[in-house]
Amino acid sequence: MYLDKSNDEFRNDVLNGLKQPLQKSTPSKYLYDNRGSQLFELITDQPEYYPTRTELSILKQNASEITDKITKEIILIELGSGSSKKTRYLFPEILKNQNKLIYFPIDISFNFLDSTVADLESFHENLTVKGIPNDYVNGIKECNNILFENNYNFESSARLILFLGSSIGNFEPEDARDFLKQIRLTMYDDDLLLVGFDLIKAEEVLERAYNDKAGYTADFNLNLLHRINRELGANFDVNNFEHLALYNTRQNRIEMHIKSKIDQFIHLKGCKDSIPIKKGESIHTESSYKYDEQKIENLASRSGFLVEQNFRDDKNWFNLVLFRPS
Ligand code: AVI
Repeated sequence: MYLDKSNDEFRNDVLNGLKQPLQKSTPSKYLYDNRGSQLFELITDQPEYYPTRTELSILKQNASEITDKITKEIILIELGSGSSKKTRYLFPEILKNQNKLIYFPIDISFNFLDSTVADLESFHENLTVKGIPNDYVNGIKECNNILFENNYNFESSARLILFLGSSIGNFEPEDARDFLKQIRLTMYDDDLLLVGFDLIKAEEVLERAYNDKAGYTADFNLNLLHRINRELGANFDVNNFEHLALYNTRQNRIEMHIKSKIDQFIHLKGCKDSIPIKKGESIHTESSYKYDEQKIENLASRSGFLVEQNFRDDKNWFNLVLFRPS
């Protein structure tokens, strides 16, 4: 997942977000320190959190149809690979049609990458895994450079780029468009991009997924306060806050907030002002946008892609979409 580039940037982002007059907010990338990433992995196993297992079942069921869309030799690139749990199902399918496969997992979290690469090394004798510790766009450029340096034949191969997990939903819609545009610029005509989208559905199902009974989503959200205390010397008393996740029907997004239970003041080390937070006031920590086919089509056309094919589950809860450069 993500790692903040420097403490200064983290500090500025938090201070700026807490000083917003209308709605306090913090960038969602700060939810993913080591503990946050561990908690997120636990969330993905909760019965209420349907996206991970639904996406996996779609991928398993359609692995051959997806990989058959590329008739050249496939090079696999994954953005935000984490533990590469889902991608493993594609390797055997690809290796049915070609006798070697290069897989580039790109992740900004070095810890995750190292263990994933070590774990996959013995997966298949014809699989080469090259972990790229970088952000997504620069990571793809780095893959291209490695392929050039190794005289890879670009004529006879094409890349399948994966962006799974509905992480696209954590971008504001304009940012999602800009991000996909940047990815498009790194792609050749025969490359394909596979993106996981969580779909608009009944509010109860959505809200349940972000309010699991075991409380891992609450811990994941409130862990941000522990992180700010530890890294920025703040005085959040976590007992005086609670997790809140609500579906905003107008904007088609789950909003995760940390809500204050009392009137209180927040101090950050080295900052002379204290920031008031009223009882009932919240800090917006994450948005998770839900899509429908029309929104996906629009996003594709505004970022230089065509929808090649939609792969959905029976309940229409999740859509794995294959994008082709237009
Ligand atoms: C990583 N991302 C796709 C998750 C989501 O569903 O938006 C993050 C998450 N936040 C709370 N639960 C899961």
